[in-house]
Amino acid sequence: MGRDHAGPGKDTDGKNFYGPYDAQELFKKHEEEMGVTMVPFQMMVYLENEDRYIPSDEVPKGAKVLDISGTELRQRLNEGRDIPAWFTYPEVVQELRRSYPPRHKQGVTIFFTGLSGSGKSTIANALITKFLEMGGRPVTLLDGDLVRKNLSSELGFSKEHRDINIRRIGYVASEITKNGGIAVCAPIAPYEATRKAVRQMIEPFGGFILVHAATSIDVCEQRDRKGLYAKARAGIVKEFTGISDPYEAPTNAEVVIDTAKLSPEEAAQTIILHLEREGFVGANGNG
Ligand code: ADX
Repeated sequence: MGRDHAGPGKDTDGKNFYGPYDAQELFKKHEEEMGVTMVPFQMMVYLENEDRYIPSDEVPKGAKVLDISGTELRQRLNEGRDIPAWFTYPEVVQELRRSYPPRHKQGVTIFFTGLSGSGKSTIANALITKFLEMGGRPVTLLDGDLVRKNLSSELGFSKEHRDINIRRIGYVASEITKNGGIAVCAPIAPYEATRKAVRQMIEPFGGFILVHAATSIDVCEQRDRKGLYAKARAGIVKEFTGISDPYEAPTNAEVVIDTAKLSPEEAAQTIILHLEREGFVGANGNG
């Protein structure tokens, strides 16, 4: 048994559930009773001035030891930072870097949510222009209206049909993300649970950035670019989001855009800045 054997990780406060050697101690207590003998081993650390590894309980007093935790290793890979030669062999580093490319080389999905007429498509298009200017990863737009026309033409606007629609978008976006591309999705996506399901489909393969186009219903209705709000008020269009159908505003959006305050260009820039901060695009471009 090693260090933190079968450890379940950290709790919601970021504290470890168990101490690093709790499992070993517990086992020892019941060794006799179980008739099973433990072969314990301590965490191995690197003794810098002797250029060798030793168990952490054999470190001479005052000696300088080095160690890179699993979390630290993942962070270094994500950020494309150096992994020192004492930690592992160059061939292993190369394989690790291939399997876990830095974020600016991973795929990413930008998932807009917001009412009809909230500016999702306009901002999405401005964002795509920026990605194309940067070059690098291929960019795919999955706009609400276009998906409805090409992928979901048989679907209506019941909760069930909206969920099928959003899951289809999520599936396509997850494939794009898996293959290292950028997917920009812009449906209404009114339901929290469905958005969460899509996030879970995508996060194992790359980035998932939820962008809330938080334009108020009043502003959307005033603009009424497609005349649908008037039709919804008149009862001609049924189950219309925000009028006769629910919209669950997200509380966990990575970026919230107030379209009353920002131009589409500024909104797109806000999203790019977020991606830069998170390492999904390099400060000098798409990577
Ligand atoms: S979602 O709910 O499934 O995410 P989606 O983004 O694909 O919706 O489609 C929304 C677009 O369909 C709107 O921008 C609008 O043009 C059109 N539409 C037609 N009927 C409705 C309706 N009842 N509710 C919302 N949008 C509708």
